[in-house]
Amino acid sequence: MNLVMLGAPGAGKGTHGNLISKKLGIPKISTGDVFRHHIEEGTELGLKAKEYMDKGLLVPDDIVMDIVDWRLNHGDCHKGFIFDGFPRTIAQAEHLDKILAEKGEPLVRAINLEVDDDVIIDRMKNRRVCPKCGATYNILHIEEEICDECGTALIIREDDEEHTVRKRIVEYHKKSQPLIDYYEEQGILFRVKGNEGITHAQEEIFKDLEK
Ligand code: AP5
Repeated sequence: MNLVMLGAPGAGKGTHGNLISKKLGIPKISTGDVFRHHIEEGTELGLKAKEYMDKGLLVPDDIVMDIVDWRLNHGDCHKGFIFDGFPRTIAQAEHLDKILAEKGEPLVRAINLEVDDDVIIDRMKNRRVCPKCGATYNILHIEEEICDECGTALIIREDDEEHTVRKRIVEYHKKSQPLIDYYEEQGILFRVKGNEGITHAQEEIFKDLEK
């Protein structure tokens, strides 16, 4: 089952992507996590990506597409995959369609999490992430800032500063929102109210995927 998660920064793509990945036994692929890994390792790719990420801008398409081509050849995607944060431009979506057409394995769903911008700003203030396994938490819902999955101390992401979040939201509306029409025209868009609690949104997604 090949899926993509769409939505603004902080809409919940990572949160729901992880839950779907566990339930369906398919890998969740986050282009943002791949870039953060490269930044931590100090690679050339990481340094290039950081220039854009620190400004709240999208990394150029050619860099993203190379990463995606490399990741899809890992060999763990035989049952499908769920992308979190890819595609983010029409060019990236067309690239994915081309790869999947060659494999004869089309995209089944583009799950779009709809969340108001002011809710996002609030959520990002309260977000903490695990630097080791990438799990995401809201400090209002946890007692200790320690990862449940691997026991690592949680951190605040550098691009979660409010002024960077605001720029990421502008970039989303300009470059990524057109993907909603793109997938609607293909008849595979599923809209979810991401303003509601995580459990509610998750139930809606699973109901749709069972169809
Ligand atoms: P990326 O890491 O993908 O960041 P993003 O898209 O901005 O999204 P986030 O990871 O910030 O949020 P999310 O939607 O996953 O929400 P989460 O589940 O954490 O990308 C970072 C950067 O890398 C980009 O800015 C860009 O520069 C670059 N990049 C990456 N991919 C690229 C691409 N394809 N092309 C070009 N550039 C690319 O949830 C947020 C918080 O809310 C959490 O605390 C969570 O617990 C909470 N929460 C979630 N859902 C709910 C709910 N329903 N109710 C209450 N709380 C909730």
